[in-house]
Amino acid sequence: IKMMKLSIFLLWVLSVTVNCKDPQLDGPIDNFQNQHIIEGIPEGGCDDLIRIRKIKDNNNKCKIRNTFINSTFEKIKDICHKNNSVYDNDNLYKSPANMTILHCKLSSEKNENTCKYNGTVTEKQIEIACNNDLQPVHLANNSE
Ligand SMILES: *[C@@H]1O[C@H](CO)[C@@H](O)[C@H](O)[C@H]1NC(C)=O
Ligand SMILES: *[C@@H]1O[C@H](CO)[C@@H](O)[C@H](O)[C@H]1NC(C)=O
Ligand SMILES: *[C@@H]1O[C@H](CO)[C@@H](O)[C@H](O)[C@H]1NC(C)=O
Ligand SMILES: *[C@@H]1O[C@H](CO)[C@@H](O)[C@H](O)[C@H]1NC(C)=O
Repeated sequence: IKMMKLSIFLLWVLSVTVNCKDPQLDGPIDNFQNQHIIEGIPEGGCDDLIRIRKIKDNNNKCKIRNTFINSTFEKIKDICHKNNSVYDNDNLYKSPANMTILHCKLSSEKNENTCKYNGTVTEKQIEIACNNDLQPVHLANNSE
């Protein structure tokens, strides 16, 4: 009986978790996560990250620049709070603390098949746009 209660409880937890996660499966949020969030900087750096995550520009060509934030989705989502609002009545939020970012810039060595990047690691406060559900959807200073 105890086991059954436990498994029913677990099922309930699972369904609640799934229900809560649903809005996050929204296109722009997933896209934000894929393009901008890394948990640790891999050895292969920008080249591997951009290739594995299939990050391309709108014309399906090598993207000129892309910024990754070394953090977790939860921590970045927490920036979407009125305390961090940059302007009144706007959806832009600034991280109160510096964050570690990996900035990838397309290298001048052109190659049709592979996109080669130069990566720079810096610390700065990031600005993100969040939707009405306070979920991150856009990195504002991505191009710097
Ligand atoms: C990136 O984040 C990971 C995991 O949170 C951490 O272990 C690592 O030290 C961070 N790297 C940098 C360069 O801050
Ligand atoms: C937001 O700011 C208020 C007033 O300064 C403060 O009491 C509250 O703890 C802050 N909340 C967060 C999540 O930082
Ligand atoms: C962030 O880091 C820069 C230097 O990289 C420093 O000048 C600035 O004061 C830091 N800001 C915060 C909020 O810690
Ligand atoms: C990237 O680095 C390589 C080698 O260090 C250099 O030749 C190239 O000019 C750099 N490209 C950019 C866009 O900075």
